[in-house]
Amino acid sequence: MSALFFKRFLQRPFQIASIVPSSRALVERVAAKIDFDRAKVIAEYGPGEGVHSREIARRMRPDARLLLFELDPAFSRDLERQFADDPRIAVLNRNAADLPLEMKTRGINHCDYILSGIPFSILKIDKKRALLQSTYDALAPNGSFIIYQVTNELKQHATIFDEAESEYFLQNIPPMFVTVFRKHVPSSNGNGAVEYSESRQRA
Ligand SMILES: C[S@@+](CC[C@H](N)C(=O)[O-])C[C@H]1O[C@@H](n2cnc3c(N)ncnc32)[C@H](O)[C@@H]1O
Repeated sequence: MSALFFKRFLQRPFQIASIVPSSRALVERVAAKIDFDRAKVIAEYGPGEGVHSREIARRMRPDARLLLFELDPAFSRDLERQFADDPRIAVLNRNAADLPLEMKTRGINHCDYILSGIPFSILKIDKKRALLQSTYDALAPNGSFIIYQVTNELKQHATIFDEAESEYFLQNIPPMFVTVFRKHVPSSNGNGAVEYSESRQRA
């Protein structure tokens, strides 16, 4: 068990929301959902002590970028230390809701993948909806938002996404729902206007 993780959990139980980091099996399952050949920009919400971030960094292209949004200052300092020699990675001790601002500052138009480990279930409904909307807007067409959560409650709120696919993953303590929300490529309706696919799935 990571000592830092447990210590931060004791300090901020609701924000950290778990006493142990994701298992190796969960990290690999989540990474398998990312096409690293085409991923140029990846953002991660709530990396904690960086168990997913390290795997992403290991697999991602030399010209890709990874933006890490971590609210906890102690985790952020630790992430900065871990990735100090990797210019592809930016550690931001900021709220995930600041993604649009950070993208603007850095001249980034879209993210190909956004990964989230934050406890969405404790967010108030307006904050939850706002974060889902800014996440959707930040994604490139064909982009994916990947979450792992103890409950699958977010699916009912994330109806702006065009498609959602969930699995219940047992090889983690506790077991997690891993859900990939996709944004489709807009298609032209023949009048020059752009519309999103009809196959939008509701939770
Ligand atoms: C359950 S831990 C997950 C840690 C790690 N991703 C893992 O899988 O082991 C949740 C993390 O999200 C961070 N967090 C919670 N709300 C956040 C927010 N709005 N923006 C950025 N980070 C947040 C917490 O500080 C904590 O490090």
